[in-house]
Amino acid sequence: MDHFLTAAWQAAQMAGALIRENWQRAHAVEYKSAIDLVTATDRASEETIVAHLAKRYPGHSILAEEATAIVAPGSVYRWIVDPLDGTTNFAHSFPHFAVSIALEREKEIILGLIYDPLRDEGFSALAGQGALLNDKPIRVSKTAELDKSLLATGFPYDHREDPDYYLKYFRSFTRQAQGIRRAGSAALDLCYVAAGRLDGFWELKLKPWDIAAGALIVSEAGGVMSNFSGGKFSIDGDETLASNGLIHDEMIRALEEAEE
Ligand code: IPD
Ligand code: CA
Ligand code: CA
Repeated sequence: MDHFLTAAWQAAQMAGALIRENWQRAHAVEYKSAIDLVTATDRASEETIVAHLAKRYPGHSILAEEATAIVAPGSVYRWIVDPLDGTTNFAHSFPHFAVSIALEREKEIILGLIYDPLRDEGFSALAGQGALLNDKPIRVSKTAELDKSLLATGFPYDHREDPDYYLKYFRSFTRQAQGIRRAGSAALDLCYVAAGRLDGFWELKLKPWDIAAGALIVSEAGGVMSNFSGGKFSIDGDETLASNGLIHDEMIRALEEAEE
């Protein structure tokens, strides 16, 4: 599997260089919906990554956020790419965004790589082989109580339509956690859970490209991924709950309490 990771790294480095060159410039922004943006850099990053992977692995399927849905007949491999996670941050020159690349084999995620080009931090995992930050192993935190935990979350692009729906979960955790961050990149939120910088993360309506790589990185760092009720996590599901494992049950209870 090492050659897959090498190819993903090469693609992420090239895309990262592009993002680094452009993040402080003014951006022409297009709107996918009222507040869902896309910039020329999202598209250029996607083209760079997809070109590299398609050249290296012409028989593989590729799904990427902006424009790519290559279905290779009979292929068991599918790359899942978010060319720029944290586009709203990028468009405002708020320095927190990343490139996310995952590889599935027969629907199982076997590789995850998330690259933060400004900090030059690459979080990676191969199934069964642990998780790394650059070349050093990472583990989830040992925080055992929600009361002492730093959490993160985000809001989907329809949050204006029903803010209370999302805020009820936020309110429940606000009462119980030590702190909550909303930094604007779900991919990096998951990496930070994996690296022990955060103890837990929840969000609704994330897409496969937001979470495929990060979910494997969390699991390989010893963390737990599930839906909001503790059931099996799926990149196609609506609910993402990630934690160090130790506070997972408390997080599920807090989500249940939000519903009451
Ligand atoms: C978004 C970010 C954000 C999350 C949104 C995502 P994008 O991805 O991950 O943190 O709250 O739900 O859609 O649009 O910047 O690639
Ligand atoms: Ca994203
Ligand atoms: Ca994106």
